[in-house]
Amino acid sequence: MSELIEVSGVSKAFGGIIANDNVSISVPEGRITGLIGPNGSGKTTLFNSIVGYHPIDSGSIKFDGQEITKKMVPQIARLGLLRTFQQTRIYGKMDCVANMLVSESHRHEGFRSMFRKIQPETTEKADRLLEFVGLYQKRRLVSGELSFGQQKLLEFAMALMNEPRILLLDEPTAGINPTLINGLIDRLKRAARELGITLFVIEHNMPVIMGLAENIYCLANGKVLAHGTPAEIQNDERVLEAYLGGQTKGDD
Ligand SMILES: Nc1ncnc2c1ncn2[C@@H]1O[C@H](COP(=O)(O)OP(=O)(O)O)[C@@H](O)[C@H]1O
Ligand SMILES: [Mg+2]
Repeated sequence: MSELIEVSGVSKAFGGIIANDNVSISVPEGRITGLIGPNGSGKTTLFNSIVGYHPIDSGSIKFDGQEITKKMVPQIARLGLLRTFQQTRIYGKMDCVANMLVSESHRHEGFRSMFRKIQPETTEKADRLLEFVGLYQKRRLVSGELSFGQQKLLEFAMALMNEPRILLLDEPTAGINPTLINGLIDRLKRAARELGITLFVIEHNMPVIMGLAENIYCLANGKVLAHGTPAEIQNDERVLEAYLGGQTKGDD
């Protein structure tokens, strides 16, 4: 099995706070890998390090065997490594199709491409992906009028416009009502299976991540505490203690 992302001994501190402490993880190609851990355990920091959002203090990060440790966000995105955010980032005053088209233009020539004529294939691709996430009927609606869960689906479709090889998803189900969560999970699984996109997913909803990921890493205090299958993680006393410990200290 080939590893698409290899993080080796990565550390990152903010002032005196060590957010990631000698973290090593690998994400196999074509699979869904989970990342869990109590609040403040360093999950988002690790994502930010992988996508080149900030420099790391030590260690190495490889994408498809290539060193990307010193590359910046746009260079890394062009290789096909994209992330979504805990907060939804859509253009609320534009309709769904327009959001899709803007998102696609980012990957290629950036700002200048906004002045380029939109190719019919691009609009077709936008429609196809909106269909994939179940938003085809709503494609001409202003996206600000969609429900929160539908906006998350739109954001996912926008990421797919760029044909990523891997998507890093930071708490994709946060704030979504339970009925839409199942729809989103189903789409994530289909993206991996049918589109061959590797997924690396931060998730705080335990039943969701246990049903979604094939292998899971658990961070605690910036370090990798455990790694295993959902069954192994569920039965790991240290994981349970990390979550309970976090709660009793009021660490939220
Ligand atoms: N930009 C930053 N500046 C200062 N401290 C930060 C910054 N980003 C994260 N931290 C700190 O690093 C630790 C890990 O945070 P984070 O990676 O966001 O955790 P998680 O996503 O697991 O909740 C926390 O103590 C947090 O306060
Ligand atoms: Mg976070």
